[in-house]
Amino acid sequence: MDPADMGDDLERVLLTEEQLGARLDEMAAQIDADYAGRDLLMVGVLKGAVMVMADLARRLHTAVEMDWMAVSSYGAGTTSSGVVRILKDLDADLTGRDVLIVEDIIDSGLTLSWLLSNLRSRGPASVEIATMLRKPEAAKVEVDVRYVGFDIPTDFVVGYGLDFAEKYRNLPFVGTLAPHVYGD
Ligand code: XMP
Ligand code: MG
Repeated sequence: MDPADMGDDLERVLLTEEQLGARLDEMAAQIDADYAGRDLLMVGVLKGAVMVMADLARRLHTAVEMDWMAVSSYGAGTTSSGVVRILKDLDADLTGRDVLIVEDIIDSGLTLSWLLSNLRSRGPASVEIATMLRKPEAAKVEVDVRYVGFDIPTDFVVGYGLDFAEKYRNLPFVGTLAPHVYGD
């Protein structure tokens, strides 16, 4: 899909496919350097992280293992409560592993801080975080994030894995939606 396919549903493009790709190149180079000679397990958080995981992993020069977890925040709507339920757990045993959590976006940080302590309790050698997007002004808890693609404003964004009501995940860019899409 390109911006024109969105018609008047698109408010504006925040990050183009080219900008995302260029930043992913840099992030991959950094991860390659940091994990040289180590055996990395990348943990993607479904569903949003699918695009970042696929694009980041393919840029690495090291063979990595990829595993997936699905979590859900209790409570509806677009804000996170920090109370998390595991919908799909990892297949891998984390004991002694170097783990890199791969996220689409960090908003309040509540989901991630829960996930971080959950994974740390499983005896890994290390746990770091890579996220494509972060909303610094929305942070409710400070989470130490090793690799950040872009810091963005607090507006709700879609595309590149991120959805509104399960739609728009397949946009290759990140954008904001016109108000009429939200029905208000
Ligand atoms: P917290 O607040 O716990 O939330 O850091 C992280 C999760 O909330 C979702 N989220 C978004 N999803 N556009 C989306 O499509 C956004 O702008 C957005 N902000 C937060 C997302 O599932 C993320 O993993
Ligand atoms: Mg979502």
